[in-house]
Amino acid sequence: MQKLVINGGKTLRGELKLQGSKNSSLPIMVASLLCGEECVLKNCPELTDIYSASRILNSLGCRCRFSENTAVINSQNISTTEISEKLMLEMRSSIIFMGAVLGRTGECTVSMPGGCELGSRPIDMHLSAMRKMGAEIKEDYGRIICRVPSGRVHGARISLPFPSVGATENIILCAVTADGETVINNSAREPEICDLCSFLRKCGADISGDGESRIVINGRKKLHGCEYRIMPDRIACASYLSMVSATGGELILTDVGVSETEPFISVLEQTGCSIYTYDDRIYLRSGSRLRAVRDRIRTMPHPGFPTDAQALLMSALVTADGTSVFEENIFDCRYRHTDALVKMGADIQVLGKVAVVKGVAKLHGANVEATDLRGGAGMVVAGLSAEGITEISGISHIDRGYEKIEEAVRHLGGEIQRV
Ligand code: EPU
Repeated sequence: MQKLVINGGKTLRGELKLQGSKNSSLPIMVASLLCGEECVLKNCPELTDIYSASRILNSLGCRCRFSENTAVINSQNISTTEISEKLMLEMRSSIIFMGAVLGRTGECTVSMPGGCELGSRPIDMHLSAMRKMGAEIKEDYGRIICRVPSGRVHGARISLPFPSVGATENIILCAVTADGETVINNSAREPEICDLCSFLRKCGADISGDGESRIVINGRKKLHGCEYRIMPDRIACASYLSMVSATGGELILTDVGVSETEPFISVLEQTGCSIYTYDDRIYLRSGSRLRAVRDRIRTMPHPGFPTDAQALLMSALVTADGTSVFEENIFDCRYRHTDALVKMGADIQVLGKVAVVKGVAKLHGANVEATDLRGGAGMVVAGLSAEGITEISGISHIDRGYEKIEEAVRHLGGEIQRV
């Protein structure tokens, strides 16, 4: 099992090009299944989750090749509509193949998806929406068997009880080639949803309202292939900004989607960092010690503060001057990184959805284990600012979301090794 070993206390400085978005690449790779032709996706990050999506596409009979951050997917042939449980368990996004395969063929068999353990993560909204679009769904010893009796899904009016990112993506993927109009009320407004819709429009889909709370889709009989550039990764952006600010350094981050990052940088600015944005660049200069954030940091659906950045910012604020308070409103178990931070000397009290972080003067290195992707990246943030050696195990979680994280950190002057 590999580990990341960090010799902390070095100030990070330099310029870095940001990777493409994982959470945008995944649904777009799935969407390419609907085109029946070749799609070329540029700026795809090379990550284990992306390779999992590629394995699922190949298992369905498509051809997916990957090189130099470009995925070439040919979905002319589909030879099966069943995804094995092993592949389903590799990541959370496997569940959105359900909408795409159903939309294309009128049937599919899947099982519960894997992904980070952040709480119960049910798929009730996904299943209820597929039923509304005409699917009959049976559960049989863990297999979820979906079939549309008429052979073609139809449009529906769907009101989501919560703006779920995955459910919104699944419905869009099912609706773009369905018969008739689909309206999603209370849809997720995350930038990755807009990127998926932009890709689908380039393939000939008729979608409007993405980025707002009501998306309208008019099903088209046929889509076509296209070439598309994936948006930048706003959570990787938050990660590198957190690392540099925690070490009192300076960063120029290029290839950034500045507006999508605003909910994060507007809070980071309150710690006393100077942040300037220009075109697709962010410049950050951090003082010697961060200030605690005075207002409660509440995670909310976009455009609120992103849940994916909660562990990252917390890991930078554990050594800030003063007390910061977090409130996690999206997942019911997303404070698993706090035990590791406490082991490194942080003062954090968790009570239900609230975490109170009293800034300490410094952290010390420790042996810690990543138990989910962003929590693990938070441990990298903490390890870089800590005195001494931090060894992080469980790094397969981190590899699901960060492209060559140790190279990026070393490039900025951090001491980190994969062993
Ligand atoms: N939920 C339900 N029922 C459903 C679907 C969701 O109760 O049918 C609940 C979830 O349990 C959760 C909340 O709704 O409490 C939000 O879940 P959502 O469906 O919005 O999240 P997701 O699609 O599973 C995506 C990202 C996550 C990110 C969340 C929220 C991907 C692959 N994953 O997950 O990213 O945290 O949206 O923004 O896009 C990550 O990248 O590390 C990550 C976990």
